[in-house]
Parts: sequence; C-alpha cells; structure tokens
Amino acid sequence: MTDYLTGFGSHFASEAVPGALPVGRNSPQKAPFGLYAEQLSGTAFTAPRAENKRSWLYRLRPTASHPPYKPYDGAPLLRSAPFDELPPTPNRLRWDPLPLPEVPTDFIDGLTSYGGNGDVATGAGIGIHLYTANASMAGRAFQNADGELLIVPQQGALTIVTELGRIDVAPLQIVLIPRGIRFRVELAGPSRGYVCENYGAPFRLPDLGPIGSNGLANSRDFETPVAWFEDVDTPCEVIQKFQGRLWATTLDHSPFDVVAWHGNLAPCRYDLTRFNTINTVSFDHPDPSIFTVLTSPSEIHGTANCDFVIFPPRWMVAEGTFRPPWFHRNVMSEYMGLIEGAYDAKEGGFAPGGASLHNQMSGHGPDQPSYGKAVAAELKPHKIEGTMAFMFESRWVIRPTRWASETPLCQLDYDDCWSGFDKAKLP
Ligand SMILES: [Fe+2]
Repeated sequence: MTDYLTGFGSHFASEAVPGALPVGRNSPQKAPFGLYAEQLSGTAFTAPRAENKRSWLYRLRPTASHPPYKPYDGAPLLRSAPFDELPPTPNRLRWDPLPLPEVPTDFIDGLTSYGGNGDVATGAGIGIHLYTANASMAGRAFQNADGELLIVPQQGALTIVTELGRIDVAPLQIVLIPRGIRFRVELAGPSRGYVCENYGAPFRLPDLGPIGSNGLANSRDFETPVAWFEDVDTPCEVIQKFQGRLWATTLDHSPFDVVAWHGNLAPCRYDLTRFNTINTVSFDHPDPSIFTVLTSPSEIHGTANCDFVIFPPRWMVAEGTFRPPWFHRNVMSEYMGLIEGAYDAKEGGFAPGGASLHNQMSGHGPDQPSYGKAVAAELKPHKIEGTMAFMFESRWVIRPTRWASETPLCQLDYDDCWSGFDKAKLP
C-alpha cells in the first residue's frame, strides 16, 4: 500500500526518512545525511507563477553521475513526431484490440505507436501509443525527455515506481508522469493500455466557467505518491526517449534513490470513476467537451494541443432529443479508445483495447444500428452503465504510423457502419 498526497498540481513535501527534507531552504550547504539536492524543472524558470512547475529532489547520488547514452534499438514499433512515414489519410480508421505479446515483453519494448502530430523539436503535438506487456521492467528504468506521459490502463493492474514514489494503478484509473521523471512499470499480469505522449504544455484541469467551482475532475481526487526510495547498488539500465529516439545507459545503482522531495512537479493518479459527470437535464446533447478530464492548452486560447475526454457511466434524460453523439465534422481530430463495455454510438466493431481515428473534417457519428435504435427509442430516463470510452482530441491532424495503416487490425470495412441510411423523405 502506498500513501498518497491529494490535489492536482499542489505544492507537496514528503520524506521517506525523518529529517531528510531540508527546512527553510532548498539547497543548504550540507543537505541532511549528505543527500544531493537537485532541482527538476518542468517549466522555464521564468514561467508565470501559476504555471511554474518544479520540484526539489534529495537523493543518494546526483542524476548527473552516469556514463554516456548509446542508441537503444528495442521498442521496434515506437515512433515519434513528426509522424511522416506516410501521407495522412482523410479516411476514418478503426482498429481491433491490440493482441498481447507472446514473448516476454516489458512496458518499453511493448509500446506500439498508432500516430500523432506536431514535432518533438518544437514542443507541440502528441504521440499516441498502446502498450502491451507481460513482463515487469526488471533492472531498468524509462525517462521521456520529449513529453509527459498520460497512461490509461485497459487491462492489468500496474505498479509504477517513479523517482518521487510508487503508484498503484488499475483499469479505470489513469497516471500522469511529468516529462523527465524516471519510472519503471511492474505488472500484476498481462497488461494493455493507451498512452498519450504530450509534447506540448503540461496537462491541467480545464476551466469550469459557468459550471462553477466544483465538478468534472475535482482537484482533490488526484493522488501523488509519498517519497519512496530503494538503496540498491546493482546495475540499472536507463532508457531515455530524446528527440524521437531511444538511448540507453547503465548506472551502477538504482535511480529510484530520492529519499525526500518537495515541489509541484510530480506524478499523480486519478480514478476515472470519481469524475463528476455533467450533462443536460433538458434537451440536446451537449458538446463532448463537457466530459474533459484534463487539457493541454496550445497558444490559441480554447483550442487544445490535446484534451483528454472520457465517456463514463451516466444518466441520459434529455427530452425530445437524439441522445447518442450526433453526426458531425470537427476541426479538431479525435482518437478514441475503449477501456471497458460498449460506446453508445457504436453497436459493434469498437472493442475494449481497440481504437478509432476521426481526423479533421471527416464525417462521423453513430453507426446505422445505433441511429435506428436511438430514433425509435421511448425516451425515458436511461442509465448508460459498465462503460468507459475516452478520447485524445487535438487541434492538429493525427497522422497514423505505417504500422497503424498497414496492420491487419485496421478494419477495412469500417466505412460500412455508416451504410444503409435511408434517404430523408420530403413532403
Ligand atoms: Fe467526434
């Protein structure tokens, strides 16, 4: 069991050994017990105070002590922005669930990229990956210099050991790991999940506007682990993603040696079932932005680098209304995944562990069977239960990888779900 500190982006302080955390200053001449003080900056030093993110780590050895990194050639299906293997297609795409590996594979080597946008070099856009793994990361750690990682487990509970503490997470929970923080993923069994690699501004809670001071994902439900360390002097391989490529070096000790830390740059988890879902109690289907958990803003106000949006269990009570998500075309691009159950706009073909992509201005909406049921339904209060779909929505077109375009998991008949619609009859 791990203890957690609550609040999103709060200023925390935690020590695994009493007295390890300096009091009254960040960098004393002699840190307690000879620990090394080290600042980890997640924003520019001069970022506005409300956006400034940094933590101070007090560790057994400084991170700077490591041999040179050399290219690492694992993770054969991991790709990075710019996603330019193929010209992006305007076609709608959908994939069957990604199978679990048959040979021992850990979180790093099991990363499979579906697509993304932007450019790691300019710090914009996202990468979208799935992980499938059947082995814990043993004797190695991962660090992503290219962006923060939003991990959405779909199958299998994980323990994510980070420099700042241990996080237990299971499907229907998410984990946010800031850029640069080293971690290892331990499995309870075969595991699969989605990863949004955010090259842009860190995810934050969305503004609530007229909703008020509560609702959607509440800050207090985000949980950051307390300090935890291991004093282990055996080799540990550190894999680093840097400007789209993987690099490796080997330490003679565990990098998880932070005995105390304080600051507001820290990993956290969130239980999606705590999302305070808000929706209509009169008519019409609001825009799905009402389901936004976290947002990574871009330089255009209100137009996200990436929104993380969920479709949780909820009551449907709208009167005189077509209740499923409507037909639409969107300037934003939408990648969807399913954690469990069924999504209310699709009767079939969209399975847990699967995915869909509806890019900028592509027409999409309910499939024909879902549409037929919705227009014929008697509109009484109805609860959608046992489901959790989500969306990574971005202002930039999501460019599929070659693998995602050519894998047999990509459903060649996806367009057929919108065939068979009768022509409207004018009087
Ligand atoms: Fe959509």
